[in-house]
Amino acid sequence: MREKIYVTRAIPRPTIEALGAEHEVIVNGQDRALSPDELRHNVKGCAAIVSLLTDRIDGPLLDAAGPSCRIVANYAVGTNNFDIPSAIERGVALTNTPGVLDDATATHTIALMLAMARRIPEAERFLRAGGWDGWKPMFFIGADVDRKVLGIAGAGRIGRNVARKARGFDMEIIYSDVAPNRAIEEETGARFVSKDELLTRSDFLTLHVPLLPETRHYIGAHELGRMKPTAILINASRGPVVDENALVEALREHRIWGAALDVFEDEPELAPGLKDLQNVVIVPHIASATEQTRLQMGEIVSRNVLAVLSGRQPDSCINAEALTHRSAPSAAS
Ligand code: DGY
Repeated sequence: MREKIYVTRAIPRPTIEALGAEHEVIVNGQDRALSPDELRHNVKGCAAIVSLLTDRIDGPLLDAAGPSCRIVANYAVGTNNFDIPSAIERGVALTNTPGVLDDATATHTIALMLAMARRIPEAERFLRAGGWDGWKPMFFIGADVDRKVLGIAGAGRIGRNVARKARGFDMEIIYSDVAPNRAIEEETGARFVSKDELLTRSDFLTLHVPLLPETRHYIGAHELGRMKPTAILINASRGPVVDENALVEALREHRIWGAALDVFEDEPELAPGLKDLQNVVIVPHIASATEQTRLQMGEIVSRNVLAVLSGRQPDSCINAEALTHRSAPSAAS
């Protein structure tokens, strides 16, 4: 049976084609994120929703879609836009796109680290502005990277991938997480440390924790105060993991040397003052934005949606309880 799939914003064509071969696909044709009201209106009666990290997927939205809705497939690995209990209650499977964006995101993290350490965007701005009068020894002095200490908060797939890439710079790798992770230690020689040691020893501190209530403002004024004045903070995870106002303050007062940010607390807004600072590299949430990655994310999305609509298990379901909940006979039956 051809069912209705609603896609909240344009994604790669092969994904739409794969879904469209079996079902009716409706894509939001406007190049902007829809408001919750617009989303609720558009998803009515659909069997699947393909969502983005900018769409809040909660009880009211699932109720608006109605009982035909059996899956919401996020075109993202992050899942902080999902209200998971609401989906379990309604028997709606939630899926994400793990694995395929690890390399792109880790490479981007290294790019951010190097860009800030060697002041590349700042130097480029200077050159384009026409102020260069020739080579001089003490000009745009940056931070050394080789053999420095790289601190990784969160030793999941992306954190581990960053550690592997950083070995090329002979960096000493330390990490912190809720528990030690054998894989990162065996692959890279990384050492498990407390959060405080991570803060006080890292020359570069990169964040790869998921956004959860307990990781919101994982880096705030206190943590920034524990970091070395020469340290560089890198964030390509989720914006609210860092208290952005506290970071602006710390950068303004040169309490740390710099920061490189791919994500922001209230996207697409930036904290007041952030973009006026020279000691920060800022890019608009593009860590996974490579052609191959975007296509592979779409392949996972279409596989997951087609699986659920034909009664099979999706590959990357983050709330398996929802599947049991839907198949269990209701108390009334
Ligand atoms: C994700 O997938 O969660 C990234 O933030 C965007 O690709």
